[in-house]
Amino acid sequence: MIRVKIPATSANLGPGFDCLGLALQLHNTITLETDQPFQISVTGPYTDGIPADESNLVWKTMCHFWDLIKYPTPSVALTFDNHIPPARGLGSSSAAIVGGLVAANTLAGSRYSKFQLLQVANALEGHPDNVTPALYGGVTLSVPTEKGILPRILTQSPNFKAIVIIPDTLLNTSTARGILPPQVSRKDAVFNISHVGLLIEAFIREDYSLLKEGMRDVLHQDLRAVLIPGLLETLETALQAGAYGAALSGSGPTLLALIPESLKLEVSQSMVNMMGQYGIKAQTIVLDIDPHGTTSSIIS
Ligand code: HSE
Repeated sequence: MIRVKIPATSANLGPGFDCLGLALQLHNTITLETDQPFQISVTGPYTDGIPADESNLVWKTMCHFWDLIKYPTPSVALTFDNHIPPARGLGSSSAAIVGGLVAANTLAGSRYSKFQLLQVANALEGHPDNVTPALYGGVTLSVPTEKGILPRILTQSPNFKAIVIIPDTLLNTSTARGILPPQVSRKDAVFNISHVGLLIEAFIREDYSLLKEGMRDVLHQDLRAVLIPGLLETLETALQAGAYGAALSGSGPTLLALIPESLKLEVSQSMVNMMGQYGIKAQTIVLDIDPHGTTSSIIS
């Protein structure tokens, strides 16, 4: 039996559009049993709308990988224990793709390295800012190069907690990307480039006083506020309540605040209250950063 544990992720971290992300201690688990009739069972709090047949994204990803390495498709029973809320900006589709690849690779004798799996995952998913932290853990930078995505781990176990405020509304990434213009001004590009630099300094030097400025963005958050009422006001209230920094998580609608543990109640309550003023009900989870990324174990 193979068990694979995949973390949720939060992409962008403000200015790092499509390149910065972090892994969270909130996981989906895939269990794969060999020599069983094909079967998919889905458990956990997020089972609605997850197909339990051959159209399932995890299964399709596994089959894609076995085709790629010319490994005969085995007959397996799969159980997905889903704790990452789907379509909320917490990397649920990355988790499905990365988890499927790691499970399929483990079954095939780990022929691909993590770096090779990253390239396959990125080709399938298209958002390295989610797939890199899902695979590697920690806070990561994904650099597009001629040889593929170069993954850099900026820090694995930073000394802060992440608050995720998860609205009970869904938002598809394609909708949230569709409202962004294809081109940006040089002024806005310079703003974000310089802020990503500051953010990387904050993580590497562990100087979290730089996160407040470093997590500011002008490329996507203001534009996405039309899809998420109260977004900018809630980020601002998190900062006023003492968060080191705050941003939209991926393409939303979840919001992320990075905080000292001592302020978790003040910051989360201020954020939930502000969202409430815009008529949005939201769930709050306070999480550590996942330092490991996706792990797999063979259980005999
Ligand atoms: N960087 C992507 C976006 C993340 O913001 O559209 C998708 O989760």
